[in-house]
Amino acid sequence: MQTLYVELGDRRYPIFIGSQLNVTEQLVPYIKGKQVMIVTNTTVAPLYLEHYSNAFKRIGKTVKQCILPDGEKYKNIEYLNLIFDALLQENFNRDCTVVALGGGVIGDMAGFAAASFQRGVYFVQIPTTLLSQVDSSVGGKTGINHSLGKNMIGAFKQPQAVFADMSQLKSLPPRELSAGLSEVIKYALLGDVDFLIWLEAHIDDLVQGDEQKLAEAVYRSCAHKAKIVANDEKEKGERALLNLGHTFGHAIESYLGYGEWLHGEAVAVGMLMAADLSCQIGWLSQQDVIRVETLLKRAKLPIRYPSIPLEQFLSYMAHDKKVLEGQLRLILLKSLGQAVITADFDTEKMNQAILNYQIQG
Ligand SMILES: NC(=O)c1ccc[n+]([C@@H]2O[C@H](COP(=O)([O-])OP(=O)(O)OC[C@H]3O[C@@H](n4cnc5c(N)ncnc54)[C@H](O)[C@@H]3O)[C@@H](O)[C@H]2O)c1
Ligand SMILES: [Zn+2]
Repeated sequence: MQTLYVELGDRRYPIFIGSQLNVTEQLVPYIKGKQVMIVTNTTVAPLYLEHYSNAFKRIGKTVKQCILPDGEKYKNIEYLNLIFDALLQENFNRDCTVVALGGGVIGDMAGFAAASFQRGVYFVQIPTTLLSQVDSSVGGKTGINHSLGKNMIGAFKQPQAVFADMSQLKSLPPRELSAGLSEVIKYALLGDVDFLIWLEAHIDDLVQGDEQKLAEAVYRSCAHKAKIVANDEKEKGERALLNLGHTFGHAIESYLGYGEWLHGEAVAVGMLMAADLSCQIGWLSQQDVIRVETLLKRAKLPIRYPSIPLEQFLSYMAHDKKVLEGQLRLILLKSLGQAVITADFDTEKMNQAILNYQIQG
């Protein structure tokens, strides 16, 4: 087991990463108060709820649960309210812990509930998807969707601890695992060429679900995100680099309708477009772009997207939050392992990069 600390002063917290982690020894000390509300969903509950619930009960906690339906479409105010209903019906007081047991949807909803119930109670994350282990459980962003925009309502809420157990990834559908690998590859591309080389050597093991390798990949990914978050918690600067591939990816997700493609899949193609544009600018070589494409392919991620009219693609990109005072800024690669945020690129070249990855015919 490895432990990584997110350095946020007096809100510093550990991320435990490993396989078959010991709940009683490692996690229980971070469960504050007597009352524990485990928030999970109908898919994860039958797999892992009892394991955690029993461990908390054994040390004398009062454990209740709130089991939400499974899906991004329930990440809204109506279903968030079910968490508040459960907390209030069970007479939870301010000195309680909300535990998120599930993927990013559950983490975001439970985190927001913990941030706002009685103006804030204790929060612990048990991320059960690769994406939530390497991304959503680190950094403290929580929230829900509004019918007019994704993740538009939320709060920053740092947990007491994060507990990332690789053995729980066994039950994850392979497509979800690959979508998580897309974010893992993102960290390598934006900030760590050694990690990229490591991924090239071990990507097949990761796809196969090798727990030791997954733990290493999660550790290195979280270390990256934790470092960036510690420097720039509220996304005033450096944290924006974490959006490599995301402005392009969001256009694909929006056009296809959220749900058709997984987020990580759209980001994979988006990262390729960013690499392609970086190549046209002269920062990356053709060989570098092929390296990125090959790695994504080996991670069982898509590398082409169904044809979307360019004007529409651009209009979705313009809605992205990285547009500052009307100017589109993109995260591009100065070299493999070094990302920059820039508005200084030729629009024609950007359009070309978008068109280069359309499925032909
Ligand atoms: N807060 C942040 O910083 C941040 C960052 C990235 C993404 N997000 C959010 O995270 C969400 C996406 O997260 P996700 O990719 O984890 O999706 P998800 O939570 O929908 O999980 C994907 C699917 O896997 C299932 N599942 C979860 N764990 C499982 C397991 N161990 N075995 C079998 N099935 C399992 C889920 O029930 C779901 O069907 C989005 O809502 C996104 O906005 C937040
Ligand atoms: Zn992402």
